Amino acid sequence: MSVRVPAKINLVLSVGPLRPDGFHDVATLFQAVSLYDEVTASPAADLRVTLSGPHTAGVTSDASNLAARAVVALARRAGREPAVHLHLDKLIPVAGGLAGGSADAAGALLACDRLWGLGLARSDLADVAASLGSDVPFALLGGTAVGTGRGERLRPVSVVRELHWVVAVAAGGLSTPVVFGRLDDLRAAAPDTSVAARAASTAAPDTSSGPVVPQVLLDALRDGDATAIGAQLHNDLQVPALDLRPELATTLAAARRLGALGGVVSGSGPTCVALARDAAHADDLAAGLRREPACVAAHAVVGPAAPLVTPDGAPRSA
Ligand code: C5P
Repeated sequence: MSVRVPAKINLVLSVGPLRPDGFHDVATLFQAVSLYDEVTASPAADLRVTLSGPHTAGVTSDASNLAARAVVALARRAGREPAVHLHLDKLIPVAGGLAGGSADAAGALLACDRLWGLGLARSDLADVAASLGSDVPFALLGGTAVGTGRGERLRPVSVVRELHWVVAVAAGGLSTPVVFGRLDDLRAAAPDTSVAARAASTAAPDTSSGPVVPQVLLDALRDGDATAIGAQLHNDLQVPALDLRPELATTLAAARRLGALGGVVSGSGPTCVALARDAAHADDLAAGLRREPACVAAHAVVGPAAPLVTPDGAPRSA
């Protein structure tokens, strides 16, 4: 049983203060995009993980892999042994702010649910997903959604038109807890950071009453107004990500120069995403960004995308 699971980007990621449990309340607008990992589950004597694809460096193939933990969590819920060979074909950059590990975990849940004939309700799978990580429930859902809480509480958003994005990949990854921690440090050092950020960027929402996805972005998505969507891209983790990786600013500046409707660091970075006017512009933008020193690969993709389950070996449609 195979599942193609998309990467996610965040059009807005608004981050509240650190909570006592070590997480931050967020309000985010997730969109799944057409850059996929493929997760294949087949019966085996015991749990085994194998890897292929361009993005396997730093990915574990033992029980610590989030997809393996997903199989164990689902097996426990179903009262059976996690006896599965999981193969992860990884096209999504690792530790890139694209939730590739979460995508693999979501794919493992969907594949094993089918393989074992469990037929669990989406809400049951979502519970297991939330126990694995903040981004796993969205990876299961796909499409476009507002995420709140630590990102696990989802409200799907309907989008009238496909958006054309360029995903600009940087060398190496960034650790999500490190980037959140740097945000806390920067805010502690300069408590008026959010005010300064608002002054510096028209897209920075007013978060005085907590993290928020601005209504103007939701309206723009509903209307299919790509220019307005581009103007609303905002990520509170961009400041700490740029603090840790200053060279990313050159990628974002290049995207602007190349006519992107907007550009932003995705999640905790270091991947940047740029919104193109259309498919042809996305190809041009990707070609231009590939010439940037801080950009090791650039993919023209579309959003929203959805997970796709296929019986292993069957022809896969796009
Ligand atoms: O949920 P996940 O395991 O992906 O989170 C990894 C880490 O990222 C957390 O341990 C926490 O440090 C940070 N995080 C956070 N607030 C969130 C999501 C993640 O502080 N909403």
